[in-house]
Amino acid sequence: MSVRQILTIGDPVLRQRAREVTPEELRSPEVQRLIDDMIETKRAANGAGLAANQVGETLRIAIAEVEGTNPRYPYKPPIPLCVMVNPVIEPVDQELVEINEGCLSVSDLRGYLERHLSVRVRYLDRDGVEHDEIKRGLTAGTFQHEVDHLDGVLFVDRAHPRTLSSWEHFDRHQRAEFEARAREIVARSGS
Ligand code: NI
Repeated sequence: MSVRQILTIGDPVLRQRAREVTPEELRSPEVQRLIDDMIETKRAANGAGLAANQVGETLRIAIAEVEGTNPRYPYKPPIPLCVMVNPVIEPVDQELVEINEGCLSVSDLRGYLERHLSVRVRYLDRDGVEHDEIKRGLTAGTFQHEVDHLDGVLFVDRAHPRTLSSWEHFDRHQRAEFEARAREIVARSGS
């Protein structure tokens, strides 16, 4: 396993739609190694998730994981490691929630954007087993962020421009308000 370099905004690879992974590819040592590297890279960077195109591989593979308290996003509830291959995401209803996000590919910028409060996610795990799950609240936001990456979409595309801020100014001016809001979302949705 190795930590890979994370591409940053402006790299055209981040704007490409990643392609579906075939069953043969998923079984291959190369793709299994890519998944191991993505997990290690995400953990080394303290991310809540990572998509394959963020490490330069335009395949529909994304991971989400929040272990204990994440230093970048301390208000996020834990997410057990989830490796998603060919994920398909759809809203469960029309309810939206405003979330403040950041991204490992967009250094020193955060912003508010709308996410669906509840989504259905269907995907294959790294062993090719099908999953069909409902995600809610902040966790649903994390899954939407990662699947967006696979379609070449970054959170800044959806963010309200005047809410964008550096991490320092988020801490100074927005964190207290947003953490209170985040606690409400978690209380309401359970995650
Ligand atoms: Ni991201």
